[in-house]
Amino acid sequence: MASVPDPSELAGHGVRVPARRHGTLRRALSWIAEHSFVAIGGRWLYRSRHLAAGRFVERFETVLVPGLDPALEGLTIAQLSDLHAGAFLGPGDLSAVVAAVARRCPDMVVITGDMIAHHWEESLTVLDDLAQLQSPLGTYAVFGNHDYRGRNEGRIAEAYAERGIRFLRNECVRFEMGNGVLALVGLEDLEEAKDVDLDKARGPVQVGDVEIVLCHNPRGASAIAGAGCTAILSGHTHGTQVDLPVLRRLGPQHPGLRLDLGTTTLIVSRGLGVVAVPMRVGVPAEVVYLQLKGCSPL
Ligand SMILES: [Fe+2]
Ligand SMILES: [Fe+2]
Repeated sequence: MASVPDPSELAGHGVRVPARRHGTLRRALSWIAEHSFVAIGGRWLYRSRHLAAGRFVERFETVLVPGLDPALEGLTIAQLSDLHAGAFLGPGDLSAVVAAVARRCPDMVVITGDMIAHHWEESLTVLDDLAQLQSPLGTYAVFGNHDYRGRNEGRIAEAYAERGIRFLRNECVRFEMGNGVLALVGLEDLEEAKDVDLDKARGPVQVGDVEIVLCHNPRGASAIAGAGCTAILSGHTHGTQVDLPVLRRLGPQHPGLRLDLGTTTLIVSRGLGVVAVPMRVGVPAEVVYLQLKGCSPL
């Protein structure tokens, strides 16, 4: 696994982070690699090695919440991330993942961005699979940096909304349960969105709510964390995807799978899909389950 840098490496970034710019040579190499792997059955290879039953990881994370209302005790959120539908992930490839999530009976499902690899239509190829994810509180999603390509993210949101999956775009949904409230906040992507507005997204959140923030890029976590924010769910890093010296540096900085930022817990998913090459080395695809557990008030 990748080393886990000190959490202070996340500090100093505002909620917005500069977009990574890829040079022409790197883009060309990525294009050549992707098309070469497609020609030799890269999608089949990836599905059989990383998305078949028993090939991906189900990671369970418990987050302690002081004074949690009994109605929220044990509430479980299943997190999928970084699908990157496209050359290496398409219709039916998530069937084992969907079946695994269904067996866990989560209270809610969230998808933390990077639905596509290149084109917005790719998101439609996995919609039949994702629409099967049923839970009492529903399925919610945010966009990742890839999803803004061509500026068609609104079309993705519309298509998904028709199938019951709602994208939160600087928005919040509050779920009242017993005397407690779960506030689910979704941010636009910190690198590529035209408008990232944390204050607007948090507007409906009230003191005492259990606030969970969906934010594709974990680099904004230090700006989001703080009193009242229970957890941040991110993805983006693919856990480095290829965990080898030098190669791991080609991807986005991976801060670790779980970090405590004061009273806020940051969970970073290693995701399900890939970019450029249909392989993961030392980094499994995964579904994360976050479960709330009450503890004594501070
Ligand atoms: Fe990604
Ligand atoms: Fe990303």
